[in-house]
Amino acid sequence: MIELAPSILSADFARLGEQVRAAGDGGASVIHVDVMDGHFVPNLTIGPPIVKSLRKVTKLPLDCHLMIENPDDFIPAFSEAGADWISVHQEACRHLNRTLHLIKSHNCLAGAVINPATPVAALAEVLDIVDYVLVMSVNPGFGGQKFIPGSLHKMRQLAEIRNQQGLAFRIEVDGGVALDTVSEVVRAGGEILVAGNAVFGHGDPTKNAEALLKAATEATLLKV
Ligand code: DX5
Ligand code: ZN
Repeated sequence: MIELAPSILSADFARLGEQVRAAGDGGASVIHVDVMDGHFVPNLTIGPPIVKSLRKVTKLPLDCHLMIENPDDFIPAFSEAGADWISVHQEACRHLNRTLHLIKSHNCLAGAVINPATPVAALAEVLDIVDYVLVMSVNPGFGGQKFIPGSLHKMRQLAEIRNQQGLAFRIEVDGGVALDTVSEVVRAGGEILVAGNAVFGHGDPTKNAEALLKAATEATLLKV
């Protein structure tokens, strides 16, 4: 099943509740929250207090993408604030297996993220415990960047491994997903589509979400 997960990174933070509602009206079914610490990535964003506020204005699952060092120190606070899904970067975790179990112990879905330069093979030993894998299709840190086509083969690879090994994780894609890229992303196996700029960067988030979901659904029909 294809799901759209708008990233609030590109939303107007002064009207966050309204913007999240508008994206939901357009069919978005997950809200993607980009958490950056100025160390793992060269940008600073938001923390648990915003998640707590979002929790009050939407029933949609809150998908917290932690682009931070020492994520173990913050997983309890995000869970407490109302996160439903928490993903951590393979590159930021010294003990990835432990961190994924920590997320699960807080009753959240656990995701493992790989940067554009990290191969799928780096996750081989955790694919049986993750609920989802997030393939970064830009270098993390900023919204509105150009999609890196080299990430497509990773989605295909993940779908193939899942099939061969009878696993159940889902495949999420993040970065540069827009009307001109969504079709190839879906055909490569992307299932949870994160989109920031394409939903909140211009125009009406409801219409933008609708258009993206329409293009994604049409692409599933072309999938071989
Ligand atoms: C980048 C973030 C993304 C970003 C996506 O570090 O993880 O979620 O907001 O933004 P777009 O869709 O604008 O590339
Ligand atoms: Zn993200």
